[in-house]
Amino acid sequence: MKFILFIILFISIFACNRHTGNKILQDRMDSLESKLANTYKPGFGEFMSGIQAHHSKLWFAGQNENWKLADFEVHEIMEAIEAIQKYQTERKESRMIGMINPALDSISNAIQQKNAALFKSSYTLLTNTCNNCHRAADFEFNVVKIPETQPFSNQDFKISK
Ligand code: HEC
Repeated sequence: MKFILFIILFISIFACNRHTGNKILQDRMDSLESKLANTYKPGFGEFMSGIQAHHSKLWFAGQNENWKLADFEVHEIMEAIEAIQKYQTERKESRMIGMINPALDSISNAIQQKNAALFKSSYTLLTNTCNNCHRAADFEFNVVKIPETQPFSNQDFKISK
């Protein structure tokens, strides 16, 4: 009899502990989930504003045949595209952003070859693809073009000596 009582007591203590243990774990998970939900991540438009700056810098780097800088800028655009695919999964537009990759590869190829003419034609292709996607995403009012003036007066686009 004593033995049975002991077992019942043991089981109830164990069950009780498990219950409080679960509750603590659940509370921690809830708090982590709410922290995650409130973590700041850049919006689609913010990534695009970054891409806009790199798109412009890329042009002036290419015009100055500053291939190292051009290579850097094209990779900045590639990274931002990857970040959109990673952090903007809830936006349907993210699914079509891959359409920009062939144009980026083409520019990258022109840069590797240090080919100014190929750079120019690839840049036109890139800019047209930006606008094609804006049209497909119903943002056709957002038109990008080949820049006329340097975006930042505090950056030298010529090859540094
Ligand atoms: C998914 C296809 C897609 C591609 C490819 C794309 N964009 Fe966008 N872009 C968008 C969408 C969607 C928005 C609107 C974002 C928002 O909701 O704020 C946008 C917004 C912008 C804006 C406005 C940002 C602002 O807040 O003023 C600029 C500038 C821009 N894009 C430049 C570019 C450039 C330059 C390229 C090419 C190198 C490019 N985009 C390629 C989809 C695309």
